[in-house]
Amino acid sequence: MKILMVCLGNICRSPLAEGILQQKANDAGLDWTVESAGTNGYHTGEAPHHLSQKVAKKYGIDISCQVSRKFERFDIAAYDKIYAMADDVLTDIRNICGADYEDKKVDLFLNELRSSKNKNVPDPWYGDEDGYEEVYQLISITCDAIIENYLTTQTPNT
Ligand code: 4NP
Repeated sequence: MKILMVCLGNICRSPLAEGILQQKANDAGLDWTVESAGTNGYHTGEAPHHLSQKVAKKYGIDISCQVSRKFERFDIAAYDKIYAMADDVLTDIRNICGADYEDKKVDLFLNELRSSKNKNVPDPWYGDEDGYEEVYQLISITCDAIIENYLTTQTPNT
């Protein structure tokens, strides 16, 4: 399964979501490829924000090799599932995809958490280090829920 995490800049939230879900999927023995992109393209070519890198490293996840890229129209067809970190990002995805948009593939990331329907992952970009820690924890429990929700909806082969 190919999963794309999307935020605005692809330097704060979605690089964390990529790194965390990829690690949890690997640990669960799932053959998933998790990638990320940003809708505004302002930071194309940059590494993740140093505080996103720092908080990820604290929990044993290295996101330093990630490179920011812009979400493109063709991404909708290239992934099985696309998660938007916030509703403004979801609107951007719809606009970028136009007629190619596939509603069933796209959802707000936090909709995977039963208690957080239609909520946004806060943007830590304008805040301090504590904001990155909070975002890390929120993304981490949501990634646990993504895997749990996936495993409980799979039909056993045996
Ligand atoms: P992100 O945070 O969407 O979580 O990567 C942002 C980073 C940069 C900007 C906006 C959001 N920016 O406008 O430059």
